[in-house]
Amino acid sequence: MAGEFKLEDVLPWGRNRAEYQAFFDLGNLASDVKMLDCASGPSSFNAEMTASGYQVVSADPIYQFSADDIAGRVQHTRTKMLAGLRAAQDRFVFTWHKSIERHDEIRMAAMHRFLGDFEAGKDEARYEAAALPNLPFADGAFDIALCSHFLFLYSNHLDATEHTACIEEMMRASTEARIFPLLDLDGKSSRHVDPVRRALEKRGFESALQRVNYEFQKGGHTMLRVMKP
Ligand SMILES: C[S@@+](CC[C@H](N)C(=O)[O-])C[C@H]1O[C@@H](n2cnc3c(N)ncnc32)[C@H](O)[C@@H]1O
Repeated sequence: MAGEFKLEDVLPWGRNRAEYQAFFDLGNLASDVKMLDCASGPSSFNAEMTASGYQVVSADPIYQFSADDIAGRVQHTRTKMLAGLRAAQDRFVFTWHKSIERHDEIRMAAMHRFLGDFEAGKDEARYEAAALPNLPFADGAFDIALCSHFLFLYSNHLDATEHTACIEEMMRASTEARIFPLLDLDGKSSRHVDPVRRALEKRGFESALQRVNYEFQKGGHTMLRVMKP
């Protein structure tokens, strides 16, 4: 995680509100809940939730770049993702997206929604350029901190100690943290889940695995919840 954050190092790829609600079991959310979306990238969660009156702040180092730069990087990611999906279709479940083509349409719609909201959202302090494990938010500023498709997915980029530090930082800024999925980029259960849960327990946090109503990577149907006792 050390060093300068460069746009060419990341593959920004964004999911939408319906997907986030399924990943994190957010079905019955009170409208005054304050949410922090960490590693939020070009997801449309913030744009869609804000339009419905919810309070979401998104934090990602990618927000230091312009909308045009992010859009260019999304196109690069799209080419790689389409090729990857076609080469490894058997590792994915298409119940939600139906087909590779529909999946691509849903992703691009989410990212256009994000791009259309980005400038206004920056002005409203809804998109903050920030990288875990250092968030620029006050202790307890949020009720729930989310992290979709970054922690555990990038198990070869961050070790267990770095994962623990990121989650501790989410728990400093928030009452609860929810992380999805718990598989790595090869579609295997992340080797960091158990050691990170043990480390969090030693630091006084409780954690639980919760099966959710979403599966795209085969076996990727579980989120981690971290709570203060
Ligand atoms: C695959 S995208 C996921 C985007 C979004 N959460 C979603 O699921 O649609 C991963 C994101 O992690 C961000 N990222 C990389 N390093 C990070 C860090 N140290 N802290 C927070 N976000 C980071 C990248 O910029 C990228 O936008």
